[in-house]
Amino acid sequence: MNDLEGWLRKYAIYSSKDTHKAPIHVLFQKYPPTLLSERGMLSYVYKCENIPWVVKEAKWELDLHFADRIKLSIPKNIGEKLLVDRLLPRPEEIFRQYSQYQKVLLYLGVSTEGNYFHPDLADIAHTQLQIREHLVDYLDVVTKEFTTRHTDVLAKILLSDLKYKNFLPKEYMIIGKGYHAKNLGRDTSYIFQEYIAGAPLHDIDHSILKKNSSLRQELIVLIYLMFLLYKKEHLVVDTRPRSPLIQTLDWIMKTENIVLSRSGVTLIDTRWCWYTKDDIVRRGLIIPNFALWRMHNWFNKLLYWEKKEVTYQGQM
Ligand SMILES: Nc1ncnc2c1ncn2[C@@H]1O[C@H](COP(=O)(O)OP(=O)(O)OP(=O)(O)O)[C@@H](O)[C@H]1O
Ligand SMILES: [Mg+2]
Repeated sequence: MNDLEGWLRKYAIYSSKDTHKAPIHVLFQKYPPTLLSERGMLSYVYKCENIPWVVKEAKWELDLHFADRIKLSIPKNIGEKLLVDRLLPRPEEIFRQYSQYQKVLLYLGVSTEGNYFHPDLADIAHTQLQIREHLVDYLDVVTKEFTTRHTDVLAKILLSDLKYKNFLPKEYMIIGKGYHAKNLGRDTSYIFQEYIAGAPLHDIDHSILKKNSSLRQELIVLIYLMFLLYKKEHLVVDTRPRSPLIQTLDWIMKTENIVLSRSGVTLIDTRWCWYTKDDIVRRGLIIPNFALWRMHNWFNKLLYWEKKEVTYQGQM
């Protein structure tokens, strides 16, 4: 554990009862952040100098121009201002997003003592393990809605060691004074996340997925877990493609929110989920349904490629 992580563990927010502020400027003096992206709808993303961490600072000035995930779905009679206002990093919204993240952590993460810190780590790790140990038992629940003709192939993958794969980078959330010029003078939330050196799924050619079985299988497990998260918690992870209006049919497969690195597949964009039981604005109208439809389609395509390879190997 480096200095930074010790600091993060100390100042991180672990529940809505923690409202303490962290002296973020002191930290940034030691690890100056370089802006990586301000294109995101909700955050400015920085890379910390000399250490493998990124920081995502929640924005007080939202630019709906980039808000494809919501712009597509704003009903005409609901003003943009109203929508923007609700997504600003006030304590209520910060904790709403954080409690969704905690669910994402249970389904997509596998945390262990030593590689992560949380006051409730033992409970979190226990629940994560329960979910993973019983992955195959949820087949009926998942495939009732997300039907597939390849349950045999799927069951085999869900019973393999891949069921223990962690799909999340380590991350901590803190609250402190804004750093970006547009956030000056306001408190905001920061997500500190392990830097994942790799390529976004967006850049991976589909021919690679046809050939690379381990990559394909990891994606199958990840999508299955996302379906489970939706079935059990009504949450849909943000797997928007880079250009939602052009790459609409390639939802998930052309996303930048999933990165492939030497340690496999990782979901890096954890701030936002659609809660499908929410009101019309946050639910995003048809977006989550659309995302699930495309993910289902890709899920079956990946399983089909997997089946073809298994059959081919069986004939050799
Ligand atoms: N853990 C990470 N490791 C490496 N690069 C990252 C990491 N997190 C984010 N990035 C880089 O920053 C970009 C933006 O990050 P992210 O997807 O989390 O937020 P966003 O989509 O810009 O913002 P928002 O979700 O608020 O709209 C990513 O596409 C990626 O290139
Ligand atoms: Mg993103």
